[in-house]
Amino acid sequence: MRLSRYFMPVLKETPSEAQIASHRLMLRAGLIRQASAGIYSWLPMGYKVLRRLEQIVHEEQQKANHHPMLMPTIQSADLWRESGRYDDYGQEMLRITDRHDRDMLYGPTNEELITDIFRREVGSYKQLPLTLYHIQWKFRDEIRPRFGVMRGREFLMKDGYNFDLTKEDALHAYNRHMVTYLKTYERMGLQAIPMRADGGPIGGDYTHEFLVLADTGESEVFYDSAVTDLTLGDRVVDYDSVAECQAIMEEFTTPYARTDETHDEAIFAEVPEERRRSARGIEVGQIFYFGTKYSDALNATVQTPDGTNVPVHMGSHGIGVSRLVGALIEANHDENGIIWPEGVAPFPVAIVNLKQGGADTDRVCDELYGALTAAGLDPLYDDREERAGAKFATMDLIGCPWRITVGPRGLKEGKVELTSRRTGESEEMSPEAAIARLKELLANR
Ligand SMILES: Nc1ncnc2c1ncn2[C@@H]1O[C@H](COP(=O)(O)OP(=O)(O)O)[C@@H](O)[C@H]1O
Ligand SMILES: [Mg+2]
Repeated sequence: MRLSRYFMPVLKETPSEAQIASHRLMLRAGLIRQASAGIYSWLPMGYKVLRRLEQIVHEEQQKANHHPMLMPTIQSADLWRESGRYDDYGQEMLRITDRHDRDMLYGPTNEELITDIFRREVGSYKQLPLTLYHIQWKFRDEIRPRFGVMRGREFLMKDGYNFDLTKEDALHAYNRHMVTYLKTYERMGLQAIPMRADGGPIGGDYTHEFLVLADTGESEVFYDSAVTDLTLGDRVVDYDSVAECQAIMEEFTTPYARTDETHDEAIFAEVPEERRRSARGIEVGQIFYFGTKYSDALNATVQTPDGTNVPVHMGSHGIGVSRLVGALIEANHDENGIIWPEGVAPFPVAIVNLKQGGADTDRVCDELYGALTAAGLDPLYDDREERAGAKFATMDLIGCPWRITVGPRGLKEGKVELTSRRTGESEEMSPEAAIARLKELLANR
């Protein structure tokens, strides 16, 4: 992308309505604009990050044989009356009446709709196990939308639903989801810690929330610092293996880690004192096993091998995709701007031309741009006629992990400069060497 042709409306001033860094930076870097309270438009660069997160979510879900689909945003109230949640959900549900006076709603979640699809289409244990998911906009009329996309009213969520014959199978699905989520967050460059949580309106005894530690997080959390040493790394997981998924679940949930809703001082006191931590966290996902709560209410049954009909065991699993953009920035920024982890950066590398219109600088920038584009590294080329200081400030603000600076002085010796946004360290090298180095650095993207 050539910056002179892009739409990236950056702001010099700090927007006064934003209270936390991620919200300020998302506005300043031109990722989002507010449409109304808690409702945002995603401008091209913000949308690019969002799509990148969706892609990672899709890839990791499909590795576990979870099938993508798409359900509508608008749902009929009838199904929600069947489950009893039409009244329970209260004012967070946006209720709509259509021209025929039928009660509709903008979906805050999809347990009812997916269970309805299941009960119509699946009748036998032979069609199980089954996990379906979608990534779709939700609406919850939050009383206090705030912190930009972190607590919006309209927000993008991945929500998945497992259907299993037995509780045992459904608990495997639960563990399997936990592993896919750990993988997903790690690929995004985030540490999200699974913490024992409270069932809330969805209900259920088995539930974990995934929390990113950040001072601006809305949840209070308590944990054993040993949990922050755990990573999956590049372990290849066999998602069909009950033992393997369970072992990983146990590995990550054995150290104490709970949100304030389930926190227990007596159990916490057993953690060695020097490892006890209390902090704040951002909830970026949650998994639930809730048994037959919805299948009982909506009469979703399957035939067992011996011919009887039993309600199907279910769970639901959510990732806050739009909230993750904010959480990523909360966890990765400095006073100058965003520092995107390589896996999610809208552009992993920026090319800065210090003398736009200079024959040599323009030629080398064009060559770099062509070679990096051909290598699939999606460079952003700052080809504006601006002072060096202004270009650097913009690049620091938007946070590409790598920057190649091309100036007349360096070029006299055949050199450009490669700079890491995270460390600020620079190295001079030939354009060819810079291309080779970037191919290496970004090989896993
Ligand atoms: N108002 C919101 N704005 C942005 N993301 C949200 C919002 N509410 C929930 N999410 C995200 O969606 C994920 C799944 O939602 P869920 O667990 O059903 O929500 P909640 O914990 O509010 O009941 C949450 O972990 C969170 O990351
Ligand atoms: Mg939740």
